Amino acid sequence: MEKIIDESKQGENLILDAKEKNTRKLFIESYGCAMNFSDSEIVASILSNEGFNTTQNLEDADLVLVNTCSIRDKAEQTVRKRLEKYNAVKRINPKMKVGVLGCMAERLKTKFLEEEKIVDLVVGPDAYKDLPNLLAEVDEGRDAINVILSKEETYGDIAPVRLNTNGVTAFVSITRGCDNMCTFCVVPFTRGRERSRDPHSIIEEVNDLWNRGYKEITLLGQNVDSYLWYGGGLKKDFVKATEMQKATAVNFSQLLEICAKAQPKMRIRFSTSNPQDLTLDVIETMAKYNNICKHIHLPVQSGSNRILKEMNRLHTREAYFELIDNIRRILPNSAISQDLIAGFPTETEQDHLDTLSLMEYVKYNFGYMFTYSERPGTMAERKMEDDIPEDVKKRRLAEIVQLQREHSEIKTKAYLNTTVEVLIERESKKSNDQWSGRTSQNIVAVFPKKQYKVGDLVNVNITNCTSATLIGDAIGYSENN
Ligand code: SAH
Ligand code: F3S
Repeated sequence: MEKIIDESKQGENLILDAKEKNTRKLFIESYGCAMNFSDSEIVASILSNEGFNTTQNLEDADLVLVNTCSIRDKAEQTVRKRLEKYNAVKRINPKMKVGVLGCMAERLKTKFLEEEKIVDLVVGPDAYKDLPNLLAEVDEGRDAINVILSKEETYGDIAPVRLNTNGVTAFVSITRGCDNMCTFCVVPFTRGRERSRDPHSIIEEVNDLWNRGYKEITLLGQNVDSYLWYGGGLKKDFVKATEMQKATAVNFSQLLEICAKAQPKMRIRFSTSNPQDLTLDVIETMAKYNNICKHIHLPVQSGSNRILKEMNRLHTREAYFELIDNIRRILPNSAISQDLIAGFPTETEQDHLDTLSLMEYVKYNFGYMFTYSERPGTMAERKMEDDIPEDVKKRRLAEIVQLQREHSEIKTKAYLNTTVEVLIERESKKSNDQWSGRTSQNIVAVFPKKQYKVGDLVNVNITNCTSATLIGDAIGYSENN
């Protein structure tokens, strides 16, 4: 209030004006996991109340925000390069402010302000609601920072502004943080302890998306299967919950069922599943509801029991096979995908062969494969030497990628001469008279547009394929359309 009355504060009045007139422009971009993209939609929502409209044009921006990833060194280097680009633009537009969000902000904290002179604002993943205050500081010419991690924050009360949307698919975040402490992983340090979002707010968001024409949602979390709502608070404090809270708690399979029932025509996906937390009731719920997509992303990281132990992954190779067998039995038409790391410290040639043989057993539909990247502050960095030479890491990764390519090809070929159900998402990148969409199993399919439109659920005859993509012809609307 004081701000409005005090005429001497010219700059502030201008900002207030901009807030009322919606004239400030925000350029926001995201790197890394789906959660970051989802978080940027929360940030855009918070800032829209501050008079910011988003722009796709960096040169037009009053405020540039980059939502960053720390998962591997390369991800951080990519962000550093982007900061150089912003710097070049800032030379032309010195009033432009630059903020760093996400995991790098949390990991580097004030170091960011020291190392990168261009940065005015540093905000960790749990502090986005503080952005209006932090921006007020920046507007007054001071650097601003908030990297406090929270026990409660889930942003459940904020309606995301959908960015770069196709109007058909959307992310809905359900948990934040991770308690698993895999020894290679920086996420528990940058995103804090695990907490779950109120199921009512999740359902509200799902219903709202359906009413606005969305046809598919992906429930997001570092570790979705460990979702547990008991009235708020950290997952690890569940042991201290009251009997009443325990009796009425909602776990992941229940949440999945509630979502599937709330919108029986909405396609539902989820990611990521840690093998140690994926329970039979989740697989059974998937089988029970047609609208829950038949794809499980099940990162394994390594096929060697010794390395899994060093990684603090709390399952064995044998337990993983048992899980795979159960998935195949209960969901015979499902797809399974992986994350794998090549060259974790002390990994021997035999450990690597164990990874390849695990892949042979599972025959994943697709996967995301990386060489090990040592992350500061993690258990592996503190206790182990990054002792696998870069060329060995790269060679092992190449062997893993090659084997995955062969398996993907076998898997996609199995769809030849079958009919699959595809949700049309966008124009194919390769041809403007073809649509691109995904099957329930999360396999991309492309086909001629004909009379169909984005958001239609169609049956497609598969006539051809590459290792990753199905190629075919739409023969009509699906009965589920
Ligand atoms: N929550 C997920 C993983 C999130 S991180 C899970 O349950 O496993 C996404 C992937 O990045 C991981 O699965 C892992 O394969 C990879 N990754 C994480 N830290 C890494 C590191 N230090 N070096 C290389 N790859 C890493
Ligand atoms: Fe990272 Fe392991 Fe959690 S990979 S995000 S610590 S499940």
